[in-house]
Amino acid sequence: MNNMNGMERKTAQGEWAVEARGLVKNFGDNRAVDGVDLNVRAGTIYGVLGPNGAGKTTTIRMLATLLRADEGTTRIFGYDVAKDPNIVRQLIGVTGQYASVDESLSATENLIIFSRLLGLSRAEAKRKAADLLEEFSLTEAAKRPLKNFSGGMRRRLDLAASLIAQPPLIFLDEPTTGLDPRTRNQMWDTIRRLVKTGSTVLLTTQYLQEADELADRIAVIDHGRVVAEGTVNELKASVGTSSLHLSIQNPQDIQSARRTVERVLQVQSAVSPEGGKITAPMADADRVTDLLIALREARIPLAEMSVQKPTLDEVFLTITGHGADGDATQASDEAKEVGA
Ligand SMILES: Nc1ncnc2c1ncn2[C@@H]1O[C@H](COP(=O)(O)OP(=O)(O)OP(=O)(O)O)[C@@H](O)[C@H]1O
Ligand SMILES: [Mg+2]
Repeated sequence: MNNMNGMERKTAQGEWAVEARGLVKNFGDNRAVDGVDLNVRAGTIYGVLGPNGAGKTTTIRMLATLLRADEGTTRIFGYDVAKDPNIVRQLIGVTGQYASVDESLSATENLIIFSRLLGLSRAEAKRKAADLLEEFSLTEAAKRPLKNFSGGMRRRLDLAASLIAQPPLIFLDEPTTGLDPRTRNQMWDTIRRLVKTGSTVLLTTQYLQEADELADRIAVIDHGRVVAEGTVNELKASVGTSSLHLSIQNPQDIQSARRTVERVLQVQSAVSPEGGKITAPMADADRVTDLLIALREARIPLAEMSVQKPTLDEVFLTITGHGADGDATQASDEAKEVGA
């Protein structure tokens, strides 16, 4: 990879980091990707969400010039991946390039080598390596050879290595799978910081919460097709209304509370099997004010109340008919090897 200063002007002008149309990939008679369109606006985080074997890694590999599409076209900042793969490669970073990391060298040495390969001076390379190790909380382990690193440390080093060049578009294939919660949060912070400083991130995930936390827009893919696309809020809204959860202080009030809920919200409510908790769908979260006033007037004290949007889990279930960790788990091991 060359220094990409020459690309900066072009990148800053491009409105779309990724424009993919009708991508298809067949492996034998397995249609792994079946007509995927993706549009990722520059400067945003885009999440591709789907269960094992959905076609996430295969899609990313096509976008990143690592795999040729059978059908369809992809433009990265306006450059066609089939016609200008060398330009595209200077604009992107893909995590998963750790094949080239040397096991016998320390984390510092590996990062310095990457930096030198990218054209940084000796002093710059040293500083860059130190900065990145600090940012990824690897300073403690910096001098140890890589073969003694845990999986989470490796993944962090891998992301660090791919960031040396600070590419305008970064593909992260399941960046936090298998990380502990603290490390995952660090990774999220880093991803947010990347976007604040001008990069675009396309990440895949099986974690609904991750897409919810990070992504400006999400494509849900299942069996090689985009089954839903939009902002997190749009996807949640497409599933329906918010839901109201009410706990009543005195169990003897439950029936009158329920009648009040149904009268004010004009809906059917349900009482939880354990009793004491009323749930009801709400078209408009704003109506909760009227309800609270009505309950106060009826002298029904509340223990707890919440209005919740549907979770992405519920969204996924509604769209695909199965949960995010659904029925495709068996297909994954082989796919993981390929994607790594
Ligand atoms: N190189 C390959 N050769 C043959 N089949 C492949 C290859 N790569 C992927 N596949 C198949 O294509 C389908 C999609 O795989 P892919 O790796 O893109 O899924 P994924 O969404 O990334 O899944 P995971 O969440 O498990 O990583 C799977 O059925 C997989 O077995
Ligand atoms: Mg994958």
